Amino acid sequence: MENLEDFLPQNRETSLVFFVNGKKVIEPSPNPEWTLLWYLRRKLQLTGTKYGCGEGGCGACTVMISQYLQPEKRVKHIAVNACLMPLCAIHGFAVTTVEGIGNTQDRLHPVQERIAKAHGSQCGFCTPGIVMSMYALLRNKSKIDYDDIETALQGNLCRCTGYRPIVEGFKTFMEAWEGVNNVKGQNKPCSLGNDCCRLKKDDDEELFTKSKFLPYSPTQEPIFPPELVLEHDRYAKSFLIFRGENVTWVRPQTLEELLFIKSKFPETKIVVGNTEIGVEVKFKKKIYPILLSPSAIEEMNKISVTDKKIVKVGAAVTLTELQDFLKDYIQENSAGTKTFKAIVDMLHWFAGSQVRNVASLVGNIMTASPISDLNPILMACSSLLTISSLDKGTQKVIIDQSFFTSYRKVKVTDNQVVLAVDIPLTEETQYFKAYKQARRRDDDISIVTAAFNVKLDKHTNIVSEAKLCYGGMGPTTICAEKSSDKIKGCYWNKDLIKIVFDSLNEELQLDSSAPGGMAAYRKSLCLSLFFKFYIYVLNKVNNNEIKNIDDSRAYKVSSSTPKSMQCFEIKENNKNSCDTIGKPIPHASALKHATGEAIYCDDMPILNEELFLCLVFSTESHARITSLDPSKALLDPDVVAFFSASDLPKERNYFGPIFKDEEIFAKEIVTSRAHVIGAIVAKTESAARKAKDLVNVTYEKLQPVIVTIEDAINHGSFYSGYPHKLEKGNIEEAFKGSNYIRDGYIRTGAQEHFYLETVSAFATRKEDELEIICTSQNPAEIALLAAEALAIPNHKVVAKVKRIGGGFGGKESRPSLLALPVAIAAYKLKKPVRAVFDRDEDMQVTGHRHPFLIKYKVAFDNNGKILGAIFDIYANAGSSMDISCSMIERASFHVDNCYYIPNIRVNGYLCKTNMPSNTAFRGFGSPKAMLGAEAVIRDIASTLGKSYEEIATINLYKEGDLTHFNQSLKYCTISRCWHECIDSSSYWQRKKMVEEYNRSNRWQKKGLAMVPTKYGISFGVDVLMQGGALLIIYKDGSVLLSIGGIEMGQGLFTKMIQVASKALNVDISKIHINEMATDKVPNSVPTAASVSSDLYGMAVINACNILNERLEPFKIQNPDGKWEDWVSAAHLNRVNLSATGFYAAPKIEYNREKNYGDLFEYFTYGVACSEVIIDCLTGDHQVLRTDIVMDLGESLNPAIDIGQIEGAFIQGYGFYTMEEMLFSPTGEVLSRGPGTYKIPGFSDIPKEFNVSLLKGAPNPRAVYSSKAVGEPPLFLAASVFFAIKEAIKSARKDAGFYSDFTLEVPATCARIRMACEDHITEQVKPTINAGGQPWNVTS
Ligand SMILES: Cc1cc2nc3c(=O)[nH]c(=O)nc-3n(C[C@H](O)[C@H](O)[C@H](O)COP(=O)(O)OP(=O)(O)OC[C@H]3O[C@@H](n4cnc5c(N)ncnc54)[C@H](O)[C@@H]3O)c2cc1C
Ligand code: FES
Ligand code: FES
Repeated sequence: MENLEDFLPQNRETSLVFFVNGKKVIEPSPNPEWTLLWYLRRKLQLTGTKYGCGEGGCGACTVMISQYLQPEKRVKHIAVNACLMPLCAIHGFAVTTVEGIGNTQDRLHPVQERIAKAHGSQCGFCTPGIVMSMYALLRNKSKIDYDDIETALQGNLCRCTGYRPIVEGFKTFMEAWEGVNNVKGQNKPCSLGNDCCRLKKDDDEELFTKSKFLPYSPTQEPIFPPELVLEHDRYAKSFLIFRGENVTWVRPQTLEELLFIKSKFPETKIVVGNTEIGVEVKFKKKIYPILLSPSAIEEMNKISVTDKKIVKVGAAVTLTELQDFLKDYIQENSAGTKTFKAIVDMLHWFAGSQVRNVASLVGNIMTASPISDLNPILMACSSLLTISSLDKGTQKVIIDQSFFTSYRKVKVTDNQVVLAVDIPLTEETQYFKAYKQARRRDDDISIVTAAFNVKLDKHTNIVSEAKLCYGGMGPTTICAEKSSDKIKGCYWNKDLIKIVFDSLNEELQLDSSAPGGMAAYRKSLCLSLFFKFYIYVLNKVNNNEIKNIDDSRAYKVSSSTPKSMQCFEIKENNKNSCDTIGKPIPHASALKHATGEAIYCDDMPILNEELFLCLVFSTESHARITSLDPSKALLDPDVVAFFSASDLPKERNYFGPIFKDEEIFAKEIVTSRAHVIGAIVAKTESAARKAKDLVNVTYEKLQPVIVTIEDAINHGSFYSGYPHKLEKGNIEEAFKGSNYIRDGYIRTGAQEHFYLETVSAFATRKEDELEIICTSQNPAEIALLAAEALAIPNHKVVAKVKRIGGGFGGKESRPSLLALPVAIAAYKLKKPVRAVFDRDEDMQVTGHRHPFLIKYKVAFDNNGKILGAIFDIYANAGSSMDISCSMIERASFHVDNCYYIPNIRVNGYLCKTNMPSNTAFRGFGSPKAMLGAEAVIRDIASTLGKSYEEIATINLYKEGDLTHFNQSLKYCTISRCWHECIDSSSYWQRKKMVEEYNRSNRWQKKGLAMVPTKYGISFGVDVLMQGGALLIIYKDGSVLLSIGGIEMGQGLFTKMIQVASKALNVDISKIHINEMATDKVPNSVPTAASVSSDLYGMAVINACNILNERLEPFKIQNPDGKWEDWVSAAHLNRVNLSATGFYAAPKIEYNREKNYGDLFEYFTYGVACSEVIIDCLTGDHQVLRTDIVMDLGESLNPAIDIGQIEGAFIQGYGFYTMEEMLFSPTGEVLSRGPGTYKIPGFSDIPKEFNVSLLKGAPNPRAVYSSKAVGEPPLFLAASVFFAIKEAIKSARKDAGFYSDFTLEVPATCARIRMACEDHITEQVKPTINAGGQPWNVTS
């Protein structure tokens, strides 16, 4: 093979130079495989920039890149995903990370201050990325409006906050707000209208004090490094070559050089944004030996309008540059811009801004993805590519049906380079429109994209030309040529619709095995989207004869600034004391989150001789291991060791939180694809990741492979001891004596936790002791299990957790999978060992929320009063028990939701399947079980022809009622919450308005629904209802508090500081909590079940009381003294200034055998009302408004509690509507990252979101009259699900479908569309063939 260097010019640069936060970095031997993220975190130790997914889908790694543009003599700033940014691409650029804009020691940047003080961070893991997206926006635009904020944050996800507080914090950067605050005292009208801070209540009654924010001044920003301006040409134009072990990066200076290299080395890959190549390299393990960057080639970086009335887009032009250019062009030229408008509109929904800022149009074309958003448009408008190669010269190639030759293949040869794309202008009688339907509106790849281009005769409206192009309907972008031909010569009227529908239905063939699944939906979309286009053109040619159909989407979703209101009470006596209980104190770490100073597990500094560990997983769901051979992997000198079952005695190879039914390393049989077979330990992360794929495992497949609940029912595959039974009253009698009996079922899918910080662990051996730092909600368990596996006493193993980047139950038990091998490796190798799950590993192995099938049968009377009910609950528990036994109990205890059911039988089945073990998730069993009760109430209403509200109210629990587990409801506020929510949401009035709206709209429907919730607070097991605290007062009066619970964003540490502050009567600034450590508070229980504030709050008070007692004599001696004086006096008098506090909750009286006695400490109640709008043609929806009333007793901290309500609601919203885990029929997890699994984003929050805390409802059973909050509000998001169902009901009625229908959870766009049955779905459904094994199954 020829040597690349022989063909390159002599004067070439081999060192990479760039600036980070103003400091020059010279990297003499950059490795082209390094990403900017890796370099920042590992080489520069700038760990503020986080790893969340590695695929550009979460925004946690956002940094700002700045570049000097010489012709324009300005600096351009863009937000980028550092995880996809090749380090080699930033030669001559300035990088700004979150550390570079401000810190808590010197100066905070206003963006950091405002997100923190507006309560916009909880776990804080997403915060630096969000800060940097906002910062880049402000650096680019001096005046911003809400659309700018929403667009800038399209590529950022947060799993904790529910986004509302972030939005509120950032709205203060909008021109109007800054303007008002900079002209204090002047009574100018404010364009924020009712949102104007001057119209608001006292700052004291707000969740944050806007008026005290630092003003934002763009002039205070750091200057761009002058060297990059002065030496621009050297940096921007020199020939670069960076050689790595496997990959070489080349940046030629001229097109000739580029073509020359391409011709000599055809396997060379051109790289522009790396948003496709980066993902291929990371996840598909592709290696491209030479990467060729065209960034210095002028011809490829230009965008212009040519004489021939086309826009010529250079191949290295980014999508943001294209969007900006076209927007300007459209503004200046009204004619001929229909295609451009379609592209601009489409780009808004294309990825997030971080991706658009670097990705290219040509990169999209050449990737040739069948679900590309832009290729259907380019095909529909017959764009031309300019292609060049050394041997064939320059040619033009049209993008038509033949251009995409097969899956991800195009008609361009390996030695050819695309130079530009020509996009033609449109003619006057031409109509052009593109539509995209995705699971989530923002930052999602499409399910189906359509682009339609027709030309009509000006006088007759007869079609003269037509191109109907689609993405998502086969292995390539396609043009429905037959259908396009058929409509030529037709009038643009109703007859045409029939012709097109018949033709498309025949021409576009999909069967249920088609990759991507949803065959009937995708096909229906093709027709529905054309129908939208038909209406759009008809509107145009008939001067808006048809009303109520929007001309692009069914409705505009992002046009309004979201509104919100939070109502809470600040007790008068709290207002001016250092007692902060009940005050909206910001999260104790909020500023550190926002500045990137907050340290998470993988932010721990690299230690000398540190090793990296990767797990080897089974690739079969159920099989016998016939051989295991790591020899190939061990050949790499960087690979240090391989651990497997043979390294542990059999009895020490088991673990589990309740039953030890899992192996640390599978020995003989694998029972799911998540089964850990071994662990590779290497000197570097990349060596470990490569080596794990070289471990050779052979299997003998075993049968059966049980994946779904139905599989388990068919095979009778349940965990032994199940069903779990719960019975009250006489169910047979109840059914016998009833007027009505109705049965039904409801199904819910798996939900991925998607905490932003993936599971990680870091273990260090010191002498014969082991320290484990891990992302766990239960570090005490990790330490104990590690000690058992290593056969050492627990006192030699300390586990520590400073904070975790979200847990939601997912880090309660499953992190052992990783932490135990790390502990074993560190102990045995006597070296520090680190491990971090990649997002795809995390999603495949750590389990999910249990999928549920609930079959119910209910007996009721003429009024709708429930007489009895039977619930059979089936939960897919996966391949091990984990904590599923507790989960199914909670489900059984919550299947009544808020309704009195006098006679009941509940059977809870735990299905044993060959799936990753499912685990705890916020709400545990209840969000699914309570859905059963809601379905029952609605079925009764439907049977009797009565309203849901009426049936709900007559069955709603009242004070003193006995639940089905015979607990008497004391201080039951459900009815108060219900009525307050009806009032605050103007329910009846809006219900009428919704009905009116639905009467006059056919293709958009609204729905309004309420749901109540009642959530029992307790683990339900005595041993778990205990908590410990350690309180230390230092000589200077500062207080260090440690508790057994961990901080995962829920504000536990903040609340505990508040509690200690009140109990000790010292200012919160004197109190600090540094981390949870098992050597400070031993034997702690998992931080879970929403009870941590209750348990640790009491333990903290106990510790404070002990120390208060010891300080009391000194207070008496010196009544005018201050805290420091008393502490000092106590110390001088040899008083012990540290104390442990402990709390054991009252014994649980519940007797499981007799189903009697109080099970829960108390209940948290709440009610929500949501209004939605759906697009009946696509299944898209938007929440228009949500009102929540929640009884949290006397809130310890309304900001944290409202944050928990909003965060839980949005997480629940994801569960009930959007988050669909996909599994193959053989048990493979197909949803492996943010690209394929969609959690709600910024634009999904309700357009109006109001939360009220019920006033005057103190709770005598918890700390300072408060109530637990973490999990209870999640179920309230079911109000959205039922509102969607109401909207669908209206659509079905219009189409003549009056029967009840089942809607499964999540109510995805596909399910909504297919439930809105109409002439399109009726026409499509019979054409979908079974076609062999389906692509995916519902687990
Ligand atoms: C988070 C995320 C979200 C995304 N969302 C969307 C979306 O909503 N819709 C969508 O359609 N796509 C989406 N994509 C896919 C991807 O971003 C696009 O395909 C993008 O346009 C690729 O451009 P790039 O410059 O980054 O390509 P690169 O990764 O740099 O290159 C892609 C391919 O094009 C080739 N190539 C590039 N330039 C040339 C040239 N001049 N001549 C010959 N070959 C060339 C490369 O060799 C490579 O094979 C998304 C990707 C990510 C990571
Ligand atoms: S880590 Fe880069 S986008 Fe998620
Ligand atoms: S605060 Fe956003 S992910 Fe936790």
